Amino acid sequence: MNVAIVGSGPSGFYAAGALLDRADLDVRVDMYERLATPWGLVRAGVAPDHPKIKSVSSVYAKIAAEESFRFFGNVDVGTDVTREELAERYDAVIYAVGTPTDRKLGIPGEELPGSVAAVDFVGWYNGHPDFADHTFDLNTSRAVVIGNGNVALDVARILCSPPDRLAATDIADHALDALRASGIKEVLVVGRRGPAQAAFTTPELKELPEFTESGVDIDPDQVAEVPDEDGLSRVAKRNLAVLRGYAEDAEAYGERHITMRFQRSPVEIRGNGKVEEIVLGHNELRVGEDGWVSAHDTGHRESVPTGLVLRAVGYRGLPIAGLPFDERRGVIPNERGKVEGAEREYVVGWIKRGPTGIIGTNKKDAVETVTRLLEDLADGSLRRHDRDGTLDIESWLAERQPELVTESGWQLIDQAERTAGEPAGRPRVKLCRTEALLDVALSRTRADA
Ligand SMILES: Cc1cc2nc3c(=O)[nH]c(=O)nc-3n(C[C@H](O)[C@H](O)[C@H](O)COP(=O)(O)OP(=O)(O)OC[C@H]3O[C@@H](n4cnc5c(N)ncnc54)[C@H](O)[C@@H]3O)c2cc1C
Ligand SMILES: NC(=O)c1ccc[n+]([C@@H]2O[C@H](COP(=O)([O-])OP(=O)(O)OC[C@H]3O[C@@H](n4cnc5c(N)ncnc54)[C@H](OP(=O)(O)O)[C@@H]3O)[C@@H](O)[C@H]2O)c1
Repeated sequence: MNVAIVGSGPSGFYAAGALLDRADLDVRVDMYERLATPWGLVRAGVAPDHPKIKSVSSVYAKIAAEESFRFFGNVDVGTDVTREELAERYDAVIYAVGTPTDRKLGIPGEELPGSVAAVDFVGWYNGHPDFADHTFDLNTSRAVVIGNGNVALDVARILCSPPDRLAATDIADHALDALRASGIKEVLVVGRRGPAQAAFTTPELKELPEFTESGVDIDPDQVAEVPDEDGLSRVAKRNLAVLRGYAEDAEAYGERHITMRFQRSPVEIRGNGKVEEIVLGHNELRVGEDGWVSAHDTGHRESVPTGLVLRAVGYRGLPIAGLPFDERRGVIPNERGKVEGAEREYVVGWIKRGPTGIIGTNKKDAVETVTRLLEDLADGSLRRHDRDGTLDIESWLAERQPELVTESGWQLIDQAERTAGEPAGRPRVKLCRTEALLDVALSRTRADA
C-alpha cells in the first residue's frame, strides 16, 4: 500500500510510525511538507528555551530513517501538487497540516499596527520562513498578551527573559537582536475568566520566575477566593497554588517582569495610526448548572497604555480545496480520522480535532486515524488502486518542484545548522529563509550527484 502524509509535524510522524510499525502491512509512506524542513511546530512553535521538549524530534528522525519512508520537502500540497493528484497516486492520503493561522478577537482596533497574532510572533522568534521578514515594534515599556493558555505564557516568557539566556538557545538570530534592543519592562497577561479557569499547565506556570529571573505580579485579591474551589480539577488546584505563591511572594521584579490580571476582556484597541492603549472590560464569573464558569461584562472599563498587543487566543485551521471544512471550528470534519464524504482521505492532529493538546496527544490521535484506515481497508470501503507496477513519484515531483528537498537534503540543513551552533554552545543556528535553506539542501545534493 502507498500512503501519502501531508505535513511533517508530530501528528504526521506519529501516523507514519503507526503505519510502518505494522508487521502485517506492506506499506510505503511518502511525507509531503511545504517547508524545506520537517517537524512542524516542534521546530517552529515549541519555545526555543524548551530544548528538552524539542528533543522529541529524535523519535521523528528514527521514523524518517526507515527504508519505506520518504520525505518530500518544499512541496506545498494545493500549490505545487493538487489534492486530486495525490488521491490518484496513493491508496490513502492523510492530511496532517495543522492549524497555521490565528483566531481573531473581533474588536475595534484589532488591525492597528502593533496588534499582532501570537502565531506570527512565535513563528518569527522560531525562525519560520513565513515570518522571517516580520518586524515587531518592541520600543514600548508595556506589552499586553491576551489569553491564558500556554502560548500566552510562551510569548510572555520570551519577551521577559534576559537575552543572554535566550542566546544559548536556537532562537532565530533576528529575534535575539530585536529582544536585546527591546524597551519592554512589563508584559501584562490578561485572562477573560478567573485564575482557576486558565488553560496553563502547571510546569509552564511554575518555571516563570526562574526563566525570567523575576517575580510575577499577581493581585492577591484575584486569587484569594475562587468559585467552587473543592470541585476544581487537579491542574486548576495546582495552578492556583502557584499563582497564590506568586501573589504572596516578595521576590523583586527583574529588568522585565510578567503581570497577570484575570476577569478582563479586550474591548477595544486604540491609537493614532498604531496601538497606544487597550481598553479592558471587567468581568464577573457565573457558574452554570453544568458547572461551566463563564465571564460576564460588568460594564466597568479600564484603559491600559501599551504599544504592543499580542493575541494568544488560539490557532485556526484552513480549508483544503476539495475537502469539506467546518467553518465554525476551523477543522476538517471527520469520523475517527476518515474525512467526511471522501473516498481515500484521512486527517490527523490539530486539523482533525482542533488546535489543542500537547505533542503526545497526537500519538493516540494518529493511532485512531491509522486504525480507522486499516478497518476501511479490511472491510473494502477503502479500495487500493488497481495498477501494474509502481508509480514514478520522484520524476513527477521533480517536474512539479525542481527544488525538492529530500531526506538527504534535510540532513544537510540539519548538519549545517548544528555545526553553526557549536562554537557558541547553541543546539543550532537556524536558517530562517527558504532560499538559504534550499542553498544548503540542494547545492551539495547537486555536487554529490
Ligand atoms: C506556540 C506553540 C508552542 C507549543 N509548545 C508545546 C510544548 O512545549 N510542548 C508540547 O507538548 N506541545 C506544544 N505545543 C503543541 C504541539 O506543537 C502540537 O500539539 C502539535 O504540533 C500539533 O501537531 P500537528 O502535526 O497536528 O501540526 P503541526 O505541528 O502544525 O504540523 C503541520 C505541518 O504541516 C505542514 N503543512 C501545512 N500545510 C501544508 C500543505 N498544504 N502542504 C504540505 N505541508 C503542509 C506545516 O508546514 C507543518 O510542518 C505547542 C503549540 C504551539 C502553537
Ligand atoms: N509547554 C507546553 O506544553 C505548550 C506550550 C504551548 C502550547 N501548548 C499547547 O498548545 C495548545 C494551544 O495553546 P493555546 O494557548 O493557543 O490555546 P488554549 O490552551 O486553548 O488557550 C487559549 C486561551 O485563549 C482564551 N481566549 C479564547 N478566546 C478569547 C477571547 N475572545 N478573548 C479573550 N480570551 C480568549 C481562552 O480562554 P477561555 O478558556 O475563557 O476560552 C484561553 O485562555 C494547548 O493545548 C497548549 O497546552 C503547550
